[in-house]
Amino acid sequence: MEIITDIASLRVRLQDEASIALVPTMGNLHAGHLSLVRIAQQHAACTVVSIFVNRLQFAPHEDYDRYPRTQENDCRLLEEYGVDIVFIPGEKTLFPIPQEFQLLLPPVADTLEGACRPGFFRGVTTVVLKLFNIVQPQVAIFGEKDYQQLQIICRMVAQLNLPVEIIAGQTIRAEDGLALSSRNNYLDNIQRQKASELACNLKKIGESIASGERNFPQLEWSAIERLNMHGWKVDYISVRQNRTLLPATACDSGLVILGAAWLDQIRLIDNFPLVLS
Ligand code: PAJ
Repeated sequence: MEIITDIASLRVRLQDEASIALVPTMGNLHAGHLSLVRIAQQHAACTVVSIFVNRLQFAPHEDYDRYPRTQENDCRLLEEYGVDIVFIPGEKTLFPIPQEFQLLLPPVADTLEGACRPGFFRGVTTVVLKLFNIVQPQVAIFGEKDYQQLQIICRMVAQLNLPVEIIAGQTIRAEDGLALSSRNNYLDNIQRQKASELACNLKKIGESIASGERNFPQLEWSAIERLNMHGWKVDYISVRQNRTLLPATACDSGLVILGAAWLDQIRLIDNFPLVLS
């Protein structure tokens, strides 16, 4: 496995590759990220994993400084997984000059995570577009864990005619249902025990819908109440159409139930996709 930190060397290394798959990450890798690596390896001759904690997608009050950085362990895991190249650019490599050009995002980026974290998706898409331009992969793998991010990246690729195929990887969970996330590292033992309640509530909504319930606002409201009673502070719990992310109606069959909530100072997000037959 090669660890490459500059763009010129990466381009030289990749120029003769028949096909390239990219897995963009912010590091602190867990089994969720590694499941995307496995998918990448099935789709291209050469797998590149990028590790870059992207300042553009963090608001000034957010956790950019304390975001877990575990490069050595990440590289060890990626080596074990047989990854070909890890691209770890420094901040000055990706942003040698201020990033003045940014994308104008569609309304789907203003809802849910976009409403709670203004500018977040602009930061994400800007860095992902740069990574696509640098690595020029034929395929790139993103997790359903960040469902809205995945949808927005698919739209960016379609609307900007980017020559890359986006492949989605399912959310990998701990035994109790908690979606794996680098931010789970912030949880202490007591918080960790409670953390699966978010996933449980999203799943519960999904099960009610699957068994015929169609009063989505009522289901959302009950889940919010339950979580708030258990000490959470809910940002949103929402039943949406799975592609447009518009509020779902009783006629929709492709749904996703999305949620974001705080346990003390820790913000967790999750979702539960549901296709009705
Ligand atoms: P990060 O949070 O490191 O996630 C990198 C990729 O791993 C994303 O596509 C994310 O959806 C996926 N992922 C995270 N947890 C997962 C899980 N439990 N199961 C499956 N996949 C999971 O998402 C980002 O980084 C950044 O926004 C990035 C796209 C790298 C741009 O900076």
